[in-house]
Amino acid sequence: MGKKVTLKYNEKEYNFDLLKGSEDENAIDVSKLRSDLNLITLDPGFKNTGSCKSAITFLDGEKGILRYRGYSIEDLAKNADFLEVAFLLIFGELPTKNQLNKLIADIQDNAIIDEDLKKILVSFPRSAHPMGILSSLTSALIAFNPEKKISLTKKTGDEHAYMYNLIVKLLAKIPILVAWVYRRRNGLSLDYGDYTQGYVENVTKMMFQRPNQKYIKNDVIVNAMNKLLILHADHEQNCSTSTVRIVGSSEASLFASVSAGISALWGRLHGGANQAVLEMLEAIKNDGGDTKKFMEKAKDKNDSFRLMGFGHRVYKNFDPRAKIIKVTAHEVLKDLGIKDPILNIAKSLEKEALNDPYFTSRKLYPNVDFYSGIIYKALNIPTEMFTVMFALGRVPGWIAHWREMRMNNDPIGRPRQVYTGSKKRDFLPLKNR
Ligand code: CMC
Repeated sequence: MGKKVTLKYNEKEYNFDLLKGSEDENAIDVSKLRSDLNLITLDPGFKNTGSCKSAITFLDGEKGILRYRGYSIEDLAKNADFLEVAFLLIFGELPTKNQLNKLIADIQDNAIIDEDLKKILVSFPRSAHPMGILSSLTSALIAFNPEKKISLTKKTGDEHAYMYNLIVKLLAKIPILVAWVYRRRNGLSLDYGDYTQGYVENVTKMMFQRPNQKYIKNDVIVNAMNKLLILHADHEQNCSTSTVRIVGSSEASLFASVSAGISALWGRLHGGANQAVLEMLEAIKNDGGDTKKFMEKAKDKNDSFRLMGFGHRVYKNFDPRAKIIKVTAHEVLKDLGIKDPILNIAKSLEKEALNDPYFTSRKLYPNVDFYSGIIYKALNIPTEMFTVMFALGRVPGWIAHWREMRMNNDPIGRPRQVYTGSKKRDFLPLKNR
């Protein structure tokens, strides 16, 4: 018999199953708590709540470990191609050569956007934030690619083929939208590329190609982009992925769920942090570069300033992605011959924070977004596009979780609450108020 956890309530003892994950993490199964005891748990921000069982990504925040389907993030970032990682996350195994070639060919077959969607894009004001545009266009894709309901009970070959087609469509169309959002901001033509040249290479080409100029591939840019996309590809039940799962749990379409995920990612406490970090570093530079002054502001509870790119809900140790990105930032700046003073400002902030009891006692370390903006800036990507690049990387993770949720037949996501409002009272007519 498995281990139990006992809860004493109203002088009676109740046993709950203790579940173990494949990496030995423990969880109390409280799924019968309400039906058996008429109790719910209260856990604002879900700091202690597991919302599902998932076989996609393993994360140990205390030890600073991150693995996709068992493969370490260090190994993947060093050796893999982003599309291989996407396949791994979504379908569970690294692709064979044939599987990868088929995926690339299928993506290329779907690399087309309805011309009417261009009209929607150009109707946005130039000043609109790219994340808002990307979320809207992803949602608008549904109008041009209506999805049929996938049966949750029958997992037939047809259902799998249908789901595969949906996934391929999204993997093909999102990079085009990303490139177009960027090009529209820069007044450039909205063109297509060719995924058979390489998925990441095609994204960079679609973004950076200039009219009447021969596009010359820059390996530094493609490799840095490949690494960044891999590092952002999944992070288990974070805010945007939980959003995708919860939206999808109502049987909303894949595109609608991913559009919601893009909106959730936008905020500066989540994916929007990369934009916020760069703006913070630039502000410190323009203020004279006094990092200590900003450290004091970050620690001052009466000041709303936070050290952006620091701290994480689950990492209480170095974010392993941040370690890789810091090294990559150095390499990219060196290879592109760029000397950017904000890299030194970032390094000073990190050094000071790692020696400051405020940060060490709260286990606040640099996260994935602390150094990523420095790389994006070096690649000539405008600050407001940073979170869009994060979204591009996260698409395979969102798809993987949406697919897992649908294939596991997970129930609709619907938390409970502790009601703190008025007790029953009678309506007062307007003349008596
Ligand atoms: N600067 C100063 N103090 C901080 C910071 C920070 N960046 N982060 C946390 N703290 C303090 C916070 O004030 C609190 O102090 P106290 O215990 O005295 O009240 C303590 O540390 C715990 O913070 P919390 O806000 O309760 O922790 P959380 O798990 O709810 O929030 C976080 C995690 C990432 C939202 C937060 O650390 C933060 O706002 N960081 C800056 C934004 C950022 O870099 N976000 C990107 C996260 S990584 C990308 C991704 O989303 O995947």
